[in-house]
Amino acid sequence: MDKLDLKLLKLQAQGHIVPDKSLLKTPEQIEAIRKSAALNTAVLDHVEAHLRAGMSTAEIDKLVFDYTTAHGGIPAPLNYEGFPKSVCTSINNVICHGIPDENEILEEGDIINVDVSTILNGYFSDASRMFTIGKVSPEAEKIVRVTKECVELGLAAAKPWGHLGDIAHAINTHARKNGYTVVEEIGGHGIGLEFHEEPFVSYVAPKGTEMVLVPGMMFTIEPMINEGSPDFFIDEDNGWTVYTIDDGLSAQVEYMVLVTETGIEVLTK
Ligand code: MF3
Ligand code: CO
Repeated sequence: MDKLDLKLLKLQAQGHIVPDKSLLKTPEQIEAIRKSAALNTAVLDHVEAHLRAGMSTAEIDKLVFDYTTAHGGIPAPLNYEGFPKSVCTSINNVICHGIPDENEILEEGDIINVDVSTILNGYFSDASRMFTIGKVSPEAEKIVRVTKECVELGLAAAKPWGHLGDIAHAINTHARKNGYTVVEEIGGHGIGLEFHEEPFVSYVAPKGTEMVLVPGMMFTIEPMINEGSPDFFIDEDNGWTVYTIDDGLSAQVEYMVLVTETGIEVLTK
């Protein structure tokens, strides 16, 4: 048993949730995942450069598919558990998992989350950004701004040997202070060797709870922030698209991070 095993065992004996060692990436895996994450960021930059009112979400899907495959990657959402497209595009009252559609046109005033996930040489990365289309309402502007702040504050609250709940507490506190709610049942996830690994990452958990942040862990910070109720329903026809129950706006920003010995490194955002 090495020093790390002993430290993890001690924490566990004290009642903390610790990661299985299979969740701790090796330096070689980290290097490979870094490359996947760099491509993921480049795909998001590519989308950002081409986003405009009047384009369809199917055009965003094509931008993602073409750019990713031209650079040797595979869009992770494509055919993932039956998901039919290469990217999730979630507009206004859609919380997440919106499916690109040629009949869905971006209009001035819309807010949209573009969630890009990439497989490169078998390694997974995942991040999403919020965009405003043209001039948007003050309400729309605010939820997009506050959601970005939530993720930055969550990131700032994270430290090696802290807890996932520290991130959640920072995010939930800032959201509530601004009159918003945080979706509870859908959260973040471990990532790297698979698209979705353990742990489930809650953004409503209390400080000092949930899994200990051990160097080598990788996961996403991706809270879904709602204007009104945190409750939702899922589209019955496609089985994917998640809508706010009250039709209120929802925003989401996703960073993928690595816990290092000295801090938290953002791999793609
Ligand atoms: N990027 C989403 C996430 O953060 C992936 C949803 S699964 C999909 O977990 F099939 F819809 F892409
Ligand atoms: Co994710």
